[in-house]
Amino acid sequence: MAGVAQRSAAVWRFIKLRRSSAPSLTFHTTAAPMGATVEEFEEAKSKLSTMRSDPGNEVKLKIYALFKQATQGPCNTPKPGMLDFINKAKWDAWKSLGSISQDQARQQYCDLIGSMLKAEEGSSARAAAQPAGVGAAYQTLLVSTEENITTITMNRPAKKNAITTEMYKEIIAALEQAAKDDSAITVFTGAGDFYCSGNDLTSFTRIPEAGMEEAAKQGADLLRSYVRAYIDFPKPLVAVVNGPAVGISVTVLGLFDLVYATEQASFHTPFTQLGQSAEGCSSYTFPRIMGPTKANEMLLFNKKLTADEACRLGLVTEVFPDSCFLSEVWRRLRAHARLPRQSLVLSKQLIRSMEKERLYAVNDAEVERLMERWTSDECISAIMSFFQAKAKL
Ligand code: COA
Repeated sequence: MAGVAQRSAAVWRFIKLRRSSAPSLTFHTTAAPMGATVEEFEEAKSKLSTMRSDPGNEVKLKIYALFKQATQGPCNTPKPGMLDFINKAKWDAWKSLGSISQDQARQQYCDLIGSMLKAEEGSSARAAAQPAGVGAAYQTLLVSTEENITTITMNRPAKKNAITTEMYKEIIAALEQAAKDDSAITVFTGAGDFYCSGNDLTSFTRIPEAGMEEAAKQGADLLRSYVRAYIDFPKPLVAVVNGPAVGISVTVLGLFDLVYATEQASFHTPFTQLGQSAEGCSSYTFPRIMGPTKANEMLLFNKKLTADEACRLGLVTEVFPDSCFLSEVWRRLRAHARLPRQSLVLSKQLIRSMEKERLYAVNDAEVERLMERWTSDECISAIMSFFQAKAKL
């Protein structure tokens, strides 16, 4: 089952990449319209790109097939070879629509997008009805405040807490909320056996109709704001690293005030392996924290650190045996949270103010570089290889 799901996910990602770069559409407008109008179809198409939730691979393939049928008519391309599983799944979905007319396909496309939008509006309304500050208001996080400590928990354990666009936005919102609440310190951790597997690689495939450059720009704007939320966070921010950490969840650790880790944790930044480059201000903070040659091993040559190595290099404050990790960490956190709140805030301000402008500049430079990297052949083929390797499992 997992293999099929992975294959299907990879297929959709490929489909989105291809469809976004498709030339503009032509319709047979001479026949009397029986279904949705071209304008309604165009409207549905643009609404699709604003949807935040992932409807699942089956639905996404259906959308693809209806789109092809509506714009090109019944499937008339040669059947792809058995091993070309990506194109084969696209072809199967399109072929399965048989000979339904372009008008009917257009109508079904509009109906499907309409029902997905309705479902999404319903779930947003339910979330908005939750009292402010309660974790349930977030889709991807658990947020709670207790004993002067606000805890933000990344909550996608089935995906190793990979950070989606929605999660990036929610973390920014949760940090803004924690900055204003009455707590003395804020704790950041992950649900399940992983701390975080970094950027959700499927995000690379949600490309708006405007194309990959536009997607890269949107991603860059979001990343810039995300990292700024850490740079600007006014209170002590503590990472409780409950398991392996990858990518951006590692790089932003240089902007935390304390990092506690279980001995099971590891720290990996496989940027060059993915055709990408450093972010989270790590191109500046890591050489400062651990020295240039050790930082280069991580940021250029993808070295994965154990918790003990990360502690020896200064990226981690303290490492605990897994058996007493939470009890020991929370004993320390409760003690920290009893310190005078204002004194903590002002002391952090003093330390951060020396660096703030430089951190903004580093963030901007890293984001600029990544915007170019995300559209590079090196990056796109590395991401495709990741999913193709998984699909073969
Ligand atoms: N983006 C998207 N999905 C991810 C992900 C990521 N960064 N990390 C994990 N997942 C998904 C997997 O695809 C899998 O989904 P599935 O159950 O639908 O197949 C699920 O999370 C569990 O991951 P899996 O790979 O089966 O677990 P694992 O313990 O064997 O390996 C990782 C975990 C994190 C080592 C591995 O998933 C990985 O290398 N992920 C990519 C990490 C990465 O490169 N991040 C970007 C850094 S810049």
